[in-house]
Amino acid sequence: MAAKRKPLIAGNWKMNGLKKDADNLARGLARRMAKTKGPAFEMLICPPAPLLNFCASALKGSGVKVGAQDCHAAEAGAHTGDVSALLLKNMGCGYVIVGHSERRSDYGETDKQVKAKAEAALAARLKVIVCIGETLKERKSGQTLHINRRQLRGSLPVGATAANTVIAYEPIWAIGTGQVATPSQAQEVHAAIRKALKSKLGANEGDNMRILYGGSMKPDNAAELLILPDVDGGLIGGASLSMTDFWAIAKAA
Ligand code: PGA
Repeated sequence: MAAKRKPLIAGNWKMNGLKKDADNLARGLARRMAKTKGPAFEMLICPPAPLLNFCASALKGSGVKVGAQDCHAAEAGAHTGDVSALLLKNMGCGYVIVGHSERRSDYGETDKQVKAKAEAALAARLKVIVCIGETLKERKSGQTLHINRRQLRGSLPVGATAANTVIAYEPIWAIGTGQVATPSQAQEVHAAIRKALKSKLGANEGDNMRILYGGSMKPDNAAELLILPDVDGGLIGGASLSMTDFWAIAKAA
């Protein structure tokens, strides 16, 4: 990662954890953060929605931020079961993830919907993590860069700046499979994303925007990924549920 971009170590708990787990993890992270002088990384956890307020309270003043895993594109209204960006902000969130591949596959979310959600998040003054990534089939047929550029173009919110938007490159074949991208596979896509961001947003914003890698990032492979010139942190699923593993990844940054 480049020195000017502070790495973001973000834990995506997905649909895991009960209140007692959140209590253990949040308090443990807060304790470790308190012992770390001027951390070289920014830390974020994204628990399931009902635990957001609880985690935000437990982490208050610790420096560990709390984010949601999704939001609705509308400000409010008749959308049973959904949560607005404004409410997330109100509950103490600083970030929201949009367009995770599991949302795209479980709910058929399109780039257009992801973009609308991201814009709702920015309007609510949340920072947004926009996820993109190719399937194994797309990679095998040589479409990796094309797919990632297309998703980026379609999902990037209007008003995106390096200060309010983070991109997460998550190859779908690497998520939860233990099959991590090699450093050269990751750097190739991250560099292409960086180039596309610069041409869309200008050299300065493109250069300063953080691009996270996600997909089976673990303590034993984190260092070789986090050292790559265009990898500015990680979006970590499985390993973020273990205090030891998540902290070890943060230390690698
Ligand atoms: P994983 O998930 O680290 O368990 O592969 C990453 C993600 O889906 O964000």
